[in-house]
Amino acid sequence: NRYRLANKQITDVSVRVGAVFVLMLPVIMMVLHLSTGAVVWFGGQRADAGTVEVGSLTAFMQYLLQILSAVIMCVFIVMATPRAIVCAERLTELLDAGSAIAYPQDQLHATPARGRLEFQNVTFGFAGAELPVIKAASFVAEPGRTTAIIGSTGAGKSTIVNLAVRLLEPQQGAITIDGIPISELTRSQLAATISLVPQRSYLFSGTIGSNLRFGRADATDAELWEALRVAQGEDFVREKRNGLGSRVSQGGTNISGGQRQRLSIARALVAKPRIYLFDDSFSALDVGTDARLRAALPSLTEGATTIIVAQRVSTITDADQILVIDNGLIVARGRHDQLLETSPVYREIVESQTDTEEAA
Ligand SMILES: Nc1ncnc2c1ncn2[C@@H]1O[C@H](COP(=O)(O)OP(=O)(O)OP(=O)(O)O)[C@@H](O)[C@H]1O
Ligand SMILES: [Mg+2]
Repeated sequence: NRYRLANKQITDVSVRVGAVFVLMLPVIMMVLHLSTGAVVWFGGQRADAGTVEVGSLTAFMQYLLQILSAVIMCVFIVMATPRAIVCAERLTELLDAGSAIAYPQDQLHATPARGRLEFQNVTFGFAGAELPVIKAASFVAEPGRTTAIIGSTGAGKSTIVNLAVRLLEPQQGAITIDGIPISELTRSQLAATISLVPQRSYLFSGTIGSNLRFGRADATDAELWEALRVAQGEDFVREKRNGLGSRVSQGGTNISGGQRQRLSIARALVAKPRIYLFDDSFSALDVGTDARLRAALPSLTEGATTIIVAQRVSTITDADQILVIDNGLIVARGRHDQLLETSPVYREIVESQTDTEEAA
């Protein structure tokens, strides 16, 4: 209903603006042509009579045209002004808007050294939505272990991950790292503790090197290459003529999706946090690269908490704990073989994937 109302409003406004334009244009054109006609008519008579030279007549017409086009410009500017004002207001609003998430000014705790991530009864719903997206989720991700999250699209996997890095704030429940609520950590402490590889990887304009150093500015080239090797991105960076110095355009649009994903994984590895969050980070990789990447990962993530959100069951079969999410609820948890026996939802996911693989 809200949508219909907004839709109606915009239709009305557009129709009105359109009507004004439709009226304005012929009027302007008419004035233009009538005046040119008048000049030619009267000027022609004078030129005939010999009181005006043809040259000055032409010049006169040129002047007239220039004046009229200036008038047209003015009209357009007048019409564009209200729009410009509205846009400017919106822009300043955007620029003035602070972050909705308040970080503590002073450091209240030491930076977590282990990285045990715990959700206690976390409930979260988007503003304006009726039902919560995450309902009373509780789980613990232990250091040195891999926790996997699996579930159908829209189940709430990305929401859980975004809650953990405080991009979203839960309405109820607590999220703690080593027992400290994440709301009591400063922004830089949280950034140093958790690295998120988002579902849609994003690169900044600059070089490959500057992108990889985003999480830790003082990383050496050797460390960058090590991270690239593990993220299976070494080959394509070596193939580039400038290597780590290769240019990346804003948003990483000059690099393929899978390569962007691997750079984004490498960026998280360079930061050396206590907690890694991979939100569907292996989806753009083929099965072989995916397997190689996961085999190489522990050499860098050893001892850290790893959380992997995955679509493919094969990505997570060796996880220490698998959380099956359905409609915002954690419906089952355990290891792969346990879940196969106990969870119908999990079995369904596994079966749907083996079917497609066999069919393919
Ligand atoms: N910004 C938003 N505002 C309102 N609702 C949202 C927003 N983002 C996501 N949702 C809703 O929240 C639910 C969970 O979304 P989420 O992104 O966590 O799903 P997901 O499990 O990560 O799915 P996928 O596998 O496709 O990545 C979905 O039903 C979605 O429609
Ligand atoms: Mg997602």
